[in-house]
Amino acid sequence: MSCCHHYALAEGGDAIFAVDVSAITFGPGCLAEAGDHARSLGLKRVALFTDRRLAGLEHVAIVQASLREAGVDFAVYAEVEVEPSDASFLAAAQFAREGGFDGYVSVGGGSVIDTAKAANLYASYPAELATYVNAPLGAGQAVPGPLKPHIACPTTSGTGAECTGIAIFDWVARGVKTGIVSKRLRPTLALIDPTTTYTLPKTVVAASGFDVLSHALESYTALPHTRRARAERPSLRPMSQGANPWSDFGCEKALQLTGRYLERAVRDASDREARDGMMWAATLAGIAFGNAGVHLPHGMAYAVAGGVRDYHAPDYPHDHAMVPHGISVVVNAPAVFRFTADACPERHLEAAGWLGADTAGAGLADAGEIVAKRLISLMQTCAIPNGVGGVGYHEGDVATLTDGAWAQQRLIKNAPKPVGEQQLADLFRAAMNYW
Ligand SMILES: [Fe+2]
Repeated sequence: MSCCHHYALAEGGDAIFAVDVSAITFGPGCLAEAGDHARSLGLKRVALFTDRRLAGLEHVAIVQASLREAGVDFAVYAEVEVEPSDASFLAAAQFAREGGFDGYVSVGGGSVIDTAKAANLYASYPAELATYVNAPLGAGQAVPGPLKPHIACPTTSGTGAECTGIAIFDWVARGVKTGIVSKRLRPTLALIDPTTTYTLPKTVVAASGFDVLSHALESYTALPHTRRARAERPSLRPMSQGANPWSDFGCEKALQLTGRYLERAVRDASDREARDGMMWAATLAGIAFGNAGVHLPHGMAYAVAGGVRDYHAPDYPHDHAMVPHGISVVVNAPAVFRFTADACPERHLEAAGWLGADTAGAGLADAGEIVAKRLISLMQTCAIPNGVGGVGYHEGDVATLTDGAWAQQRLIKNAPKPVGEQQLADLFRAAMNYW
């Protein structure tokens, strides 16, 4: 542990933390093992979730061949939307309900994996969409019981969705991104094959890489579990339980790997060491944030992504305006970490060092500036837009952005210090431009 008092127990805090992870199989070529894993889970007929672009590509073909070889029947659902919505979640759930499946395999990015989680949930325990959605936007009801087995195969090194019990969607009628959070949603097995990232274009590697970075940095600096109010009974202990000694492991290694490999992975698609390294970083950061929870950069990102007007990122589908998830997160990050540094400056300084900043001779009062400068430098070399203003927002949008982010109380409360609405507005102002 980085500083001996970080996990000192506060009055009413939770002295206990839990470790919940998906089983993980990692390595080049492991997609071809999908069928054997499905069979050993006892599956006879699975729903194979992917998106239209991926459906015609090699990764899905490898999984299909492997399922066939193992004698596991399947039906493909390729209608997953990139950045799924309430409507696309419901359409997927209908497919799942009608197909008579005993399990799920998802091949894709976070959108595909999250859609498979939601389909599994609403097919297993049919309900109105709002039933299991986070309060206060939804009813926040607990998932009633276990879901069917789900083998998640990520094809980007970013979201960590294969290791988490979180499913994020765009609730179009409400104009916000929100999600469903439950340990029950966590995939049974994450099958992580880094060769899937070898053909990804630059901007996709950059956006997903900054998502990894922010998962690790937010989890490492989240409110310690010992300062979060203890739940009434153990089964109500939240999955986003705050920073803890287990998530710290994953954060440290993920930040070191990101510092070493992010720029290389973006710059050169043939640098397999770097792309494999980012995939492993994504896995470790996913495990960490699945147990600790993220905070302000992600809370603010939901508003940034949800209110997009006309931003189109290179290398992403151009049929509708969209801020890719990792970009919507990292544009907030330098402003946030300047603000949170005084809550746990040692951790901000350590993280900056792991990311490659020169921290020699730095004092605790410098922590926020050092971590922010390192983030800004990485953003610049990876051609990330210049702050919230860089994806099309201006000063007049601050009130709307603040409203959208304020609704994400699960994340706001996981910040290492209290945040009011006025401070959130100030953070959006500070995040508008960095250079
Ligand atoms: Fe994320």
